[in-house]
Amino acid sequence: MEELKQGYRLLVLMVVITGMVSANTSCCSYPCQNGGVCMTAGMEGFHCDCTGTDFYGTLCDTPTFMKRIKLWLKPSPDTTHYLLTHYNWLWDRVNSIDFLRNAVMKKVYTMRSDMIDSPPTYTSDHTYITLDANYNQTYYIRTLPPVPSNCPTPMGVWGKKEMPDVDRIIKKFFVRKELIPEPMGTSALFSFFAQHFTHQFFKTDIKKGPQYQWGGHGVDVSHIYGRDKDAEGKLRSFKDGKLKVQIIDGEEFPPLEKDAPVGMIYPPGTPDNRRFAIGQQVFGLLPGLFMYATIWLREHNRVCDILKAEHPEWDDERLYQTGKLVILGETIKIVIEDYVQHLSHYNYKLLFNPELLFGEPFQYQNRITVEFNHLYHWHPLMPSEFNISGTTYNLREFVYHPEIVLKHGMHDFVDSLSKQRAGQFGPFNHGPLTIPVVTELLKQGRQLRLQPYNQYRKKFNLPPYKTFEDLTGNKELAKALEEEYQDINAVEFYVGLIMEKRRYKSVFGSSIVEMGGPYSVKGLMSNPICSPKYWKPSTFGGDVGFDIINTATLKKLFCSNIKGDCPVVSFEVPDYLRGDDLHDEL
Ligand code: HEM
Ligand SMILES: *[C@@H]1O[C@H](CO)[C@@H](O)[C@H](O)[C@H]1NC(C)=O
Ligand SMILES: *[C@@H]1O[C@H](CO)[C@@H](O)[C@H](O)[C@H]1NC(C)=O
Ligand SMILES: *[C@@H]1O[C@H](CO)[C@@H](O)[C@H](O)[C@H]1NC(C)=O
Repeated sequence: MEELKQGYRLLVLMVVITGMVSANTSCCSYPCQNGGVCMTAGMEGFHCDCTGTDFYGTLCDTPTFMKRIKLWLKPSPDTTHYLLTHYNWLWDRVNSIDFLRNAVMKKVYTMRSDMIDSPPTYTSDHTYITLDANYNQTYYIRTLPPVPSNCPTPMGVWGKKEMPDVDRIIKKFFVRKELIPEPMGTSALFSFFAQHFTHQFFKTDIKKGPQYQWGGHGVDVSHIYGRDKDAEGKLRSFKDGKLKVQIIDGEEFPPLEKDAPVGMIYPPGTPDNRRFAIGQQVFGLLPGLFMYATIWLREHNRVCDILKAEHPEWDDERLYQTGKLVILGETIKIVIEDYVQHLSHYNYKLLFNPELLFGEPFQYQNRITVEFNHLYHWHPLMPSEFNISGTTYNLREFVYHPEIVLKHGMHDFVDSLSKQRAGQFGPFNHGPLTIPVVTELLKQGRQLRLQPYNQYRKKFNLPPYKTFEDLTGNKELAKALEEEYQDINAVEFYVGLIMEKRRYKSVFGSSIVEMGGPYSVKGLMSNPICSPKYWKPSTFGGDVGFDIINTATLKKLFCSNIKGDCPVVSFEVPDYLRGDDLHDEL
């Protein structure tokens, strides 16, 4: 008996030595590499499950022979980014030869979406796999499980015993003193597109907690049509498939809430004639959101006219449902070929072509992760002021005043946003009204026990940062940040995103691109309309509808729905309005 005990002690000691940490906190240092799963083993040890990683060894740190070759051949994300943003002459060729352009796009689709675990694995309520992750859709899912709750420090084993004070972090690194303009020339039309598009699937159910959501986990155009059938019913006219509108100064706008009571959020005291009804209940917040809501509303009704002309035999319901499918298709087309194109600054021209994935191992299902939501808090992109046809509005004058769009008309409003510089994503650039949002966000990140920034870098095949200067690219910032976090491995998720140095020829640092890319490609291409049974002309009312999708552009969206001459429609501020601070590295 005594011998057995001795043997056991020895075993434990060995495990402890290999693990370097004692007790059942042994997974707190994320010892398993390359996607290996850490499982505690007894009270004192751990085991790495390397299944399916192409690595082996106690810590999944030795590649198989084939993997070694693959790794050696595979360019790093930074190299790939460099290739795609340079060699204009090469990409001009590729862009003009269909076969090559398709081949590159297929690679983009598969490489990006392969990074996403599908079906989903984790939620914020467990550090291990549960069936809830798959079946309970009220959860956002997680890319990485939460930090175990009994770890030596909140970040695992690194950093201080207590996280630095949130308000101090915000004051030190986030607050905007003066607008820092976006260096690649991004316009405010872009910032509002980002906010408008993403709020169809970022819908935190904050009353229940930051791990819950009430959306449909994808691009379901619920921000245009309403959160459920009840809301849709209130927004529909039930005639010719169209949505309700009101005419103001000869232009179509969303109806008032008294005519479509969908339960919008407006501050108390907002007069009836300013309470517009929109598919997303928070879109009364900003004129830019109201503007996008208006343009998509007009587009839906325009598409319905075209479908009715083609199919006089169709009833209201069929015109409505088919119109909705066309609008969804146009949305994805514009998001990939205008929006992501602008974001990427690739010389390669991105393509929306679902057929490229037919026959590939690809799952047509998607879930929104908590990390994607946090990553998309692009509040610094909002400027502090808006010059609308010569009238300057500050953010406070903008908020909850959708009628500013009516005052200037859609043409002038869109024109002005296209010429208005966005703010840079980075430190010292959160405007006054967004400070409370980001304060809450940091608190939520801690409550959700998001893993350290460097763990996410590793998950997305990026080298973890070794020093604070490596992360920030700036000595002073590095010093200040180190005072707060002590250890580079203890930097929390959103702070890492904000403090990360901007990538060459890019709006963001490398992490946002390399994490956001997979989330968005997966989210867009796994949409049911991209699947083989949906993606055919008959789904969209025949060739007419299919063509509307396949030729959709941002410019067309606006120009087809604004009377008279076309405004400037651009995600980049036109050259003649740019200062010399632009395109510094071109
Ligand atoms: C000045 C303009 C903006 C204001 C005043 C604003 C305000 C807010 C507010 C009050 C919240 C809710 C926070 C909470 O409940 O904790 C929020 C959430 C959010 N905002 Fe903004 N925002 C602005 C611009 C943007 C932009 C440009 C983006 C870029 C995409 C963005 C992305 C988000 C996201 C992803 C959320 C989380 C939504 C959710 O989980 O339900 N916001 N914002
Ligand atoms: C192991 O973890 C459990 C649950 O987190 C905790 O109650 C227990 O005290 C831990 N044991 C040790 C030896 O740390
Ligand atoms: C999903 O999880 C929440 C929180 O645990 C629970 O209240 C709800 O009943 C679950 N829903 C389903 C369908 O299991
Ligand atoms: C506002 O924009 C107009 C062009 O639309 C320009 O002429 C004017 O100088 C701008 N005003 C300010 C204060 O920037």
